[in-house]
Amino acid sequence: MRSPQVEAAAGLPAEVTIYEVGPRDGLQNEKTIVPAATKVEFVRRLEAAGLGTIETTSFVPAKWVPQMGDAEEVLAGLGADGVGRRRPALVPNERGLDRAEELGLQAIAVFGSATETFARKNLNRSVAEQYAMFEPVVRRAQADSMWVRAYVSMCFGDPWEGPVPVEQVVDVAVRLMDLGCDQLSLGDTIGVGTTGHVHRLLEALEARGIGTDRVAVHFHDTYGQALANTMAALRDGVTVVDAAAGGLGGCPYAKSATGNLATEDLVWALHGAGVRTGVDLDALVETSVWMAEQLGRPSPSRVVKALAGS
Ligand code: HMG
Ligand code: MG
Repeated sequence: MRSPQVEAAAGLPAEVTIYEVGPRDGLQNEKTIVPAATKVEFVRRLEAAGLGTIETTSFVPAKWVPQMGDAEEVLAGLGADGVGRRRPALVPNERGLDRAEELGLQAIAVFGSATETFARKNLNRSVAEQYAMFEPVVRRAQADSMWVRAYVSMCFGDPWEGPVPVEQVVDVAVRLMDLGCDQLSLGDTIGVGTTGHVHRLLEALEARGIGTDRVAVHFHDTYGQALANTMAALRDGVTVVDAAAGGLGGCPYAKSATGNLATEDLVWALHGAGVRTGVDLDALVETSVWMAEQLGRPSPSRVVKALAGS
């Protein structure tokens, strides 16, 4: 079968916005450094497959993440198509914002940590210091009418610290959203979360004034929970889901992280349940097969494997 039989499922939204992170989260952790021209083609193929929102790159120092060292080149290759409000890129600090603004970006994402250890490893800052780093970034971005997303990593567990209390995550989320960010993305960086935990965190955020209309979910699939967790979040009212074409991804500063939820697996589940995504699944699978060839290894996505072989 090339598409699922459609049987509407209760409790799901009519439409879901997929926030495609393949070009950024996917490629930042690949051993192979993908040429900028290939990244440009990847973004263009994703667009053509119907992905409306695509995170393109990161404005971080190349010595921290060499895979994203070509941000300017990628954006130059994309031209006007790389800078709209639905083409965000990661920006950790004012230096990153300078670079993004020089290219005319209209959407950025800052990325905080719920835990001290990961804040130190990923940002070279403490949790308290990360706010000081992001505050001027968000203030300037807002003044320049940019759209701003705030990620929080290690929301469901941390490889060094173990369990992460829900209230600790909520405290970080509230601090970041209070800076004036438009959207919060809950990162399960190492893919350990489970459905009850997702519900508990969304409920705790709501109680502190962050409703599901401002929340996106970002599950890595290390423990095979990403799709189940996403469906649980959708039933709780979330409508924006992060995913990476072909299940690419990881995080260079959390070795136990593997790929993101595969966009194809998400699309199969949503289309089967009668939920609109705007994505052409065949075109997306073709894109992931092409990208797997560029990387020299097969896609880990179950749906890509099934459809590419059928
Ligand atoms: P630092 O070394 O403390 O920075 O890094 P610094 O401010 O001390 O600056 C050191 C040097 O870097 C200076 O140059 C700066 O100019 C330069 P020098 O004077 O030595 O020649 N510099 C920059 N150059 C270019 N662009 C910049 C920039 N900033 C400083 N933006 C920093 C602090 C935050 C920059 C660093 O820790 C960093 O970039 N961290 C990001 C690492 C990263 O990208 N991780 C992956 C993304 S997060 C993720 O994947 C999780 C997520 O997917 C959600 C989830 O799954 O949970 C989002
Ligand atoms: Mg991630």
